Amino acid sequence: MPGAITTGWGIGLPANIVTNADLESRLDTNDAWITERTGIKQRHIGGTTSELAIMAGKEALKSACVLPEDIDILLLATTTPDERVPGTSAVVQNALGISGGAFDLNAACSGFVYSLIVAHGLIGVGAKRILVIGSETLSSITNMNERTLAVVVGDGAAGIVLERTEGPGELLSWDLGADGSLRHLLYCEHGGYLFMDGKEVFRRAVRIIVNSAQKALGKTGFDSTDIDLFVPHQANARIVEAARERLGIPSEKAMTTIDRYGNTSSSSIPLALVTAVCEGKLKKGDLVLLSGFGAGMTWGSALLRFGG
Ligand code: COA
Repeated sequence: MPGAITTGWGIGLPANIVTNADLESRLDTNDAWITERTGIKQRHIGGTTSELAIMAGKEALKSACVLPEDIDILLLATTTPDERVPGTSAVVQNALGISGGAFDLNAACSGFVYSLIVAHGLIGVGAKRILVIGSETLSSITNMNERTLAVVVGDGAAGIVLERTEGPGELLSWDLGADGSLRHLLYCEHGGYLFMDGKEVFRRAVRIIVNSAQKALGKTGFDSTDIDLFVPHQANARIVEAARERLGIPSEKAMTTIDRYGNTSSSSIPLALVTAVCEGKLKKGDLVLLSGFGAGMTWGSALLRFGG
């Protein structure tokens, strides 16, 4: 089967930055609590899921030097679509001028990893170029007057262009999983607000990430000491830290962006990935491990030789 490599990337963030001090002024919370319990210092809030995805998509196409008409499929990972019908990908496809297919994928915070694996599969059956975007406006389904989740969520988008290549491509192995019996831990009903049993999600998160990452690694000859960059879902800095430690990955090899973006669900892994590229922490040929978990519960990991 033909493989695929990442050839472009982009980010879309609302201009409005909300700091811990801003939250402190209107909620019964404080910077010390938020920083110590979550690692978050600020988050971007605002926009719609399609607006942010369009920003990220435009930038990704430009950086890949690819025209919209050359994209076969737009795959949009989101758990906060602008409307129930149609998919938010329809709005994004039209705005970007993409003539290929477009669909949304909802696997909550694991959505980008799920989408990436699906995109590689589509390349395997004939697609040439796929734009994969994670875009979220978690603030639109969060009660921003209730401190527990208001301090944690952020809005934003990031995406990549994946192109078919001769040879095996960058995806070395993957692991996807779900356990729908855990739906009650994290959900949002139509018209309602996000609910999270934070303690229970926290308790399971580290084990889930570690197991999934080890499964993906176990399918290859690599182990955690070979990893150049670990890019986990940015839900809580303590979860990232604990997972990193259990996997035996040194702290300088774990990407952390939760301090500046908060938890952006399916945007969190691509935001961290693209930020790493822009900051020179990830370069062509590096071994990168993506690992996410989220509502469902779902989880997923992908081991990539970045850029092939
Ligand atoms: N500011 C100040 N105090 C707060 C607060 C806030 N924003 N939120 C809760 N508190 C208080 C609580 O009332 C409680 O006070 P008490 O001890 O007097 O009763 C205390 O802080 C501890 O609350 P708790 O809910 O136990 O906090 P926690 O350490 O579990 O942290 C989360 C809360 C949400 C940060 C944490 O549970 C978490 O990150 N969970 C996992 C989230 C996650 O992975 N989500 C991923 C979904 S993809």
